[in-house]
Amino acid sequence: MYLTDGVVRLRPYQADDADIDQALSWYQDPEVLYYSEGPGTEPFSRARVASMYDYLASHGELYMIEVPTPDGFRPIGDVMLSEDTMPIVIGDPNWRSRGIGSRVLRLLVQRARDVGWTRLQAKHIWKDNVRSQRLFTTCGFVFMKSGIDDAGRLFYRYQITL
Ligand SMILES: CC(C)(COP(=O)(O)OP(=O)(O)OC[C@H]1O[C@@H](n2cnc3c(N)ncnc32)[C@H](O)[C@@H]1OP(=O)(O)O)[C@@H](O)C(=O)NCCC(=O)NCCS
Repeated sequence: MYLTDGVVRLRPYQADDADIDQALSWYQDPEVLYYSEGPGTEPFSRARVASMYDYLASHGELYMIEVPTPDGFRPIGDVMLSEDTMPIVIGDPNWRSRGIGSRVLRLLVQRARDVGWTRLQAKHIWKDNVRSQRLFTTCGFVFMKSGIDDAGRLFYRYQITL
């Protein structure tokens, strides 16, 4: 089932080769690798993208983020909805900081309410990822705690009660 607010469309991922091919370019981008995975992360191989998507799709609802273009809807990123973690990537840099992430998150908060969940969590947002922190707070999440991950990086955790 698509989720849409009339601008952004979230399409459930169905292990489509074309989606993996498209996503491969996103996971070559140093900004995505740094903020999603951590410093020093090597660009992903196609097999790694596929196995990451398999993992995410089996642990929550994985969606391709799509925007309308003159040629139809085009995937520009991915997001996974689960109660404990909500990894999101606007993979195409031309679409970052244009309000798409906020639209996506609002759709997923509504989706979580619709299925009767009582809270959502953004588990690990690195201290220096100010844009992501603002993304979650602007959509109603509140700071819960900070922590240090296995690699020694400071992260913040956010939560929303639904
Ligand atoms: C983080 C990410 C998902 C945010 O999505 P987005 O579409 O770029 O964000 P939005 O345009 O909806 O903006 C969200 C908030 O960040 C603010 N923001 C936008 N660009 C910013 C920037 N460069 N620096 C700081 N804040 C910024 C916006 O003003 C907005 O806050 P506001 O509502 O209080 O004004 C996206 O930028 C991305 O994929 N980044 C790379 C990967 C990543 O960091 N993923 C998240 C890992 S936790």
